[in-house]
Amino acid sequence: MKVVILDNAADVAKYGADIFIKQISAKADSVLGLATGSTPVALYKELIHAHQNQQVSFSQVSSFNLDEYLGLSGEHSQSYRHFMNEQLFDHVDIDKNNTLVPPGDAKNPLIACHEYEQTIKESGGIDIQLLGIGRNGHIGFNEPSSSLGSRTRVKTLTQETIDDNARFFAEGEFQPHLSITMGIGTILEAKKVVLLATGENKAQAIVDTVQGAITANCPASALQFHPDTVIIIDEAAASLLENKEFFRHIERENQKLESSLAL
Ligand code: PGA
Repeated sequence: MKVVILDNAADVAKYGADIFIKQISAKADSVLGLATGSTPVALYKELIHAHQNQQVSFSQVSSFNLDEYLGLSGEHSQSYRHFMNEQLFDHVDIDKNNTLVPPGDAKNPLIACHEYEQTIKESGGIDIQLLGIGRNGHIGFNEPSSSLGSRTRVKTLTQETIDDNARFFAEGEFQPHLSITMGIGTILEAKKVVLLATGENKAQAIVDTVQGAITANCPASALQFHPDTVIIIDEAAASLLENKEFFRHIERENQKLESSLAL
């Protein structure tokens, strides 16, 4: 896996956004895999900015979000559908009919999970998947102990994740304990994966992902199997990595190679 260590969170967002802009420039009808959480917000702001500057158009793009709370409809202010509309879709020229988020209010969630997988397949597959990472190493809502071959399914949230996300819910407001999430197997089928992490509270999860054994205890470690994953992190999230200098060296070499190929 490629690990890119940058000075700060703003640089992480820019670097990540550039990868998405390049992807859409190369393939106007790209299929994006999108993520919620605090970390992707700055990247979405960069994409909106690039759209406003006519650098990128989403008119032919389609998207699949990683996950949704089970029990919340898309109209609920804490739903991930609502989040995506507010943070990205309402500000770019994407056709919202082409943006899919797992249906948190599905009558039969088991069938809905199966249909979500089918729709991804029918789209031709995800070209590029954006990921955040939980402090416990989760990707999407694939909590520790998730099967590394898992597909879209209903997943029970850990208390740690419920506590981490409680900040978004008002006191006394219903906070779901279940979700629908793409599986790790689903994520591994994306052609390219871009994982962002910033801040010291992600440092242990990043060590476990990059340097640890591949284990269901750290779902993101499964990305070691993926042929084209880039992990973009700030200094704080990189602080526990042993081989930071080597990763910086690789990135400098990659940059040199890319600029020589562009000539
Ligand atoms: P965060 O969440 O970006 O809000 O830290 C990441 C995640 O849980 O995937």
